[in-house]
Amino acid sequence: MGGRTDIRPSEITPEAVWQSRRDWLRRAAAGSLALGLPLGAQADDEGPSGPVLEGAPNPALSIDEPANGWRDITTYNNFYEFGTGKADPSENAGRMRLEPWQVRIEGAVRRPLTLDLDALLRLAPLEERVYRLRCVEAWSMVIPWMGYSLSHLIKHVEPTADARYVVFTTDLQPEAMPGVRAGILDWPYTEGLRMDEAMHPLTLLTFGVYGRRLPPQNGAPLRVIVPWKYGFKSAKSLVRISLQADEPVSSWMSAAPREYGFYANVNPDVPHPRWSQATERRIGTGLFAPRVPTLPFNGYAEQVAGLYQGMDLRRNF
Ligand code: MTE
Repeated sequence: MGGRTDIRPSEITPEAVWQSRRDWLRRAAAGSLALGLPLGAQADDEGPSGPVLEGAPNPALSIDEPANGWRDITTYNNFYEFGTGKADPSENAGRMRLEPWQVRIEGAVRRPLTLDLDALLRLAPLEERVYRLRCVEAWSMVIPWMGYSLSHLIKHVEPTADARYVVFTTDLQPEAMPGVRAGILDWPYTEGLRMDEAMHPLTLLTFGVYGRRLPPQNGAPLRVIVPWKYGFKSAKSLVRISLQADEPVSSWMSAAPREYGFYANVNPDVPHPRWSQATERRIGTGLFAPRVPTLPFNGYAEQVAGLYQGMDLRRNF
């Protein structure tokens, strides 16, 4: 990452791309997101591509920091179904079958439903929100995600009193997913949230990035983003959302219970057993840029710390 400063004439951004980036910046400014130039928008960043998604910026739920460029966001990924290298998802995820796509919402609900992607997209207006994604390996990016609060969907299926946890399940397509054969995790990838976390307005059911549909490597066609937690909580390419009474055991918890807990709230005071989590490297700032201090709850403490009042966050990591 970084170090892309030696610009060759062939890398100078073509007019049309420059124009679309300028449009995005104008839209961001209209929404009073004081973003400035996207952080990773080097001259060799070809800019957003893929089908357009319309949505209004939501400055109230956005952070005021320069966003990473399209290239960083779509080529430096974690999606273990496609391999463990950061470039593996962008190289391999294009083989994933994305149509037709349905999501089953079931369990402790009065109206279990199977919805296709269009029905999900019609459920609530899409918003563009600039969130920090902080990964457990101590790097971060700032990303303009597009979606709506997951609470809209949960309310739509009418949870019962037994609905205390929500479980997310990723699609499993072994023929398209070389990483699945490696057996690193119990597939399909599952993750979970407590009901109040899932209903929090910041928890985003995410369909796009930079005004485009999610690229496969970022979890097409829909994923969850929980911005105050480590990135592994934000499961990709969802096919099932299930409400239940008991705390679930996620794929990472069962693979390495000492390293990955259920809560996974970003916490600079609690190191991962194999490394410190006190600072992070911001992707796109260059290899020699200083690391920045990691913020409690990834900078969202004001909005979410109350959810954990009275809990010992060292035990509940
Ligand atoms: N979802 C699935 N299905 N498989 C994965 O390997 N990786 C997680 C999360 N969701 C992962 C996943 C991790 S560790 C991170 S940091 C984020 O996705 C990365 O999201 P991004 O590639 O869009 O930045």
